[in-house]
Amino acid sequence: MIKSQRKRYSTGKNSIFALRKNFNSMSRKNRTLGEFIIENQSAFKYTTGELSSLINAIRLAAKVVNYEVNKAGLVDILGAAGDVNVQGEDQQKLDVYANEKFIQTMTNRNIVCGIASEEEDDFIAINSQDEKYQNKYVVLIDPLDGSSNIDVNVSVGTIFSVYRRVTPIGTPVTIEDFLQPGNQQVAAGYVVYGTSTMLVYTTGAGVNGFTLNPAIGTFYLSHPNMQFPLDGKIYSVNEGNYIHFPQGIKNYIKYCQMEEGDRPYTSRYIGSLVSDFHRNMIKGGIYIYPKSSLNSEGKLRLLYECNPMAFLAEQANGKASNGFQRIMDIKPTSLHQRVPFICGSKNMVEKCEEFMRNA
Ligand code: AHG
Ligand code: MN
Ligand code: MN
Repeated sequence: MIKSQRKRYSTGKNSIFALRKNFNSMSRKNRTLGEFIIENQSAFKYTTGELSSLINAIRLAAKVVNYEVNKAGLVDILGAAGDVNVQGEDQQKLDVYANEKFIQTMTNRNIVCGIASEEEDDFIAINSQDEKYQNKYVVLIDPLDGSSNIDVNVSVGTIFSVYRRVTPIGTPVTIEDFLQPGNQQVAAGYVVYGTSTMLVYTTGAGVNGFTLNPAIGTFYLSHPNMQFPLDGKIYSVNEGNYIHFPQGIKNYIKYCQMEEGDRPYTSRYIGSLVSDFHRNMIKGGIYIYPKSSLNSEGKLRLLYECNPMAFLAEQANGKASNGFQRIMDIKPTSLHQRVPFICGSKNMVEKCEEFMRNA
């Protein structure tokens, strides 16, 4: 009898234990996102159903956008929509679609008092002048991250970030409600539309990942308590811009490529922050988008990209920095502010910071 068969047909106490263990982990993993939200609602420190409804709305919008992203290759919706977003970049049609769907879902359900989006010039106030609307959360989104990957069938994502408003409930939201440092986030997450679609989020009590079963449209808890390995062997950076990078980043890249110990590391860069982050969180790695002589502040947006990813990273035992300072401690000054971003396995980020300090 070959080894695997022996294992499969073995009887007795051990196999019963193995079976029970398997069953327990299966039932844990079989939990749907809806069940998980309800079960964990009371663990949230500002417990009300409002945040749960908000996550539920994001879950719904994610499914709608997922459906559209998945058939992107089939219908004539590819290519730039002809508009240019507030950062001066070409908008793809799916950017516009995802933006509309997320805003529409949250507006229709009347669960937030304001939304800011990478694709909108200004924030959107929702029913905040009407006394009966007592919503206290604002949401900031990058509706479609990595949008240049759509045309070539490579993973894209959605990033979201949630804060409690700082202005009084029942009054119109103001810019102050959106310009809060990342350390004030109450929830953050992303959807990755990849080989499978996943929703990964945190409310400040760890990071959990849910995979969509497209046949029945249900997200299942597939990655409980996600953690960045302390160290990793992957570095993700657009090395085409090497010549424009600060000296500290150049030195760190050379360090990654040096033959010593477990180096050289592997280079992996998808060009979609969500996907690069997701892979690095699972395998261990570092993502870098530094400032350069082309972009003096870097490219990524503090509010829509860096803060939510930083919150997830820290909740998953990783780290996020601009090279010198914790991302989540930066006080935002404008909605579309950009910052240099270094994020991933803690030891790797700290090593990179060391190179920045010493350059
Ligand atoms: P978006 O599609 O929302 O504009 O974001 C793209 C971001 C990020 O996801 C990605 O890692 C980075 O821009 C890629 O930029 P480069 O092409 O300059 O490397
Ligand atoms: Mn983006
Ligand atoms: Mn985007």
